[in-house]
Amino acid sequence: MCGIVGYVGNKNAQDFLISGLKRLEYRGYDSAGIVTLDSKGEATLLRAKGKISNLEEKLAKNKREDKIGIGHTRWATHGEPSEANAHPHQAGSIYLVHNGIIENYKELKETLKEHEFKSETDTEVLAALINSFYKDGKHSLINAVVQALKLAKGTYGIAVVSCKAPDEIVVARSGSPLVVGIGHDETLIASDASALVGHTKQAIYLNDGEVALVKKDSIEIKTLNAEPVSAKVEEIETNLAAIQKGGYDHFLLKEIMEQPESLKETLRGRVNLEARTVHLGGPGLSEDELRKIKHLVIVGCGTAYHAGLLAGYYIEQFTPEITVETVIASEYRYRNAYIPEDSVALIVSQSGETADTLACLREIKKQGVKTIGIVNAIGSTISREVDGGTYVHVGPEISVASTKAFTSQVIAMVIFGLTIAQAKGVKPSILYPYIKEIAAMPEAIRETLESVHEKVKKIANKYTKYDHAVYLGRDTAYPTAMEGALKLKEISYVDANAYAFGELKHGPLALIDDRFFELALLPEGHLYDKAISNVQEVLARGGKIIAVTNVKKFDMKVEDVIEIPDTLEIFAPILMNLVSQLFAYYMTVAKGYNVDQPRNLAKSVTVE
Ligand code: AGP
Repeated sequence: MCGIVGYVGNKNAQDFLISGLKRLEYRGYDSAGIVTLDSKGEATLLRAKGKISNLEEKLAKNKREDKIGIGHTRWATHGEPSEANAHPHQAGSIYLVHNGIIENYKELKETLKEHEFKSETDTEVLAALINSFYKDGKHSLINAVVQALKLAKGTYGIAVVSCKAPDEIVVARSGSPLVVGIGHDETLIASDASALVGHTKQAIYLNDGEVALVKKDSIEIKTLNAEPVSAKVEEIETNLAAIQKGGYDHFLLKEIMEQPESLKETLRGRVNLEARTVHLGGPGLSEDELRKIKHLVIVGCGTAYHAGLLAGYYIEQFTPEITVETVIASEYRYRNAYIPEDSVALIVSQSGETADTLACLREIKKQGVKTIGIVNAIGSTISREVDGGTYVHVGPEISVASTKAFTSQVIAMVIFGLTIAQAKGVKPSILYPYIKEIAAMPEAIRETLESVHEKVKKIANKYTKYDHAVYLGRDTAYPTAMEGALKLKEISYVDANAYAFGELKHGPLALIDDRFFELALLPEGHLYDKAISNVQEVLARGGKIIAVTNVKKFDMKVEDVIEIPDTLEIFAPILMNLVSQLFAYYMTVAKGYNVDQPRNLAKSVTVE
């Protein structure tokens, strides 16, 4: 996802813009740029392909004391990563940075013959369109922006400055987040609140269809139809420590290791062990509404989808006459799927900005289905558009690979399922084992991380020569295997895929040869023996198996065994997933790849 920053105030704009863009680096980008204006409107535009450090080299030779400016990190959609395609884009006296996609940019470009285009981007078309309303002085900057946005189709989060008005920034959003930080005699803009941390705790989250005129001591918001909007100032929850590495080499390792604490935050106030009950206020469903639920649709992408799959397995275990369907948002949004009466949709998203998940939410709402968010980012678009919701409260997840959010998303959804079961009168004796293990989980995670860490690091280094891997599991270990395979593929670029053990003989078994290693999740339980016979099928074909198990005295002749403490039975797969997370991390470190910002990926995929 691209990043936007903006500043107007009494301090050095270049300093804030660069530091703000660095805070947003984790979201993934391939070029960056800033523009600042001096008090007379003289612009200093600096853009560079690649990392922000390349931009800083240019900045060193172009230092200014300017007090206003905007900046951007670009994740290429239209036009290759290059300086020419980097934002900000200029048209006449205006400069524009943009997140999102202008879908009708080709048609609009045809109407802008006067503008000499220097890039292949849709953003430059939008800049030229704004300028076409602005350049003859008939419209103020904000009105020129409004006129242009009324013609543009697609998604945007934009910030615009003009040499003719070097004390104001115009911002607008539709489908791509923008937050305005209220400072003392300064106003800060960002596409993600983490860029504002340490500068202000007061923020206004723009809503879709809103446009604002921002000055150092004022903000005036209205809709595209010029209706005034009263700004709701909210508290920015996060803090500096939460967005820094805290002594770890990478955000990913920090976020893996902080799962005992982050899960505690998820559970806070939601599990009452003595009363043997759970409680979720956010969804806002009455006991009667919970009792009536017959069908759950769980929607997500990537890790969020895997979390929904795993949670769905658990919810089916303890909630009678309920069906659970977990779907991939980018597929489901285009299916003509009928959602039956008495359904609830769980919308799972760490960032709360994933375009496909957001679009799917909007499609589901059209059917009048109650939507419940399972979201981490406070104030994010999805969290504001669902009917009710549960924040997982794991704190900012900076690394592109999602880890702590997965664990908490699963458990938050299981707790939601338990509230349904409680309302349906399911016997406490059936629910209590789940509640007890959930309450014990933060400590079980800490103990597991401690006991496996060094062994996983050692074993991961043994497998760096492999380019292919198969992850295997049955029942709740199968979605867990899918999540483990995604972790490995997205940061170490190993071609890792997960299969249900029972599916092996229906095709995947043909894959097994020296190119592959297999990671088998083998939790104790009623399907353990079946899984073991599948392991034997793989071994008989020369498979190189890493067994992850909580079975004591595991004695099969496999390549490696990683034993996890047998503290949890039902949720053993959650503990096994910690092994997959650490394994992916150390494999990637051994390969020397960028752990937190893997190639081609962004932390939040806000484009389709
Ligand atoms: C997970 O490690 C990936 N970074 C990716 O699959 C991610 O889970 C997916 O893009 C969904 O993101 P969200 O939870 O922010 O909606």
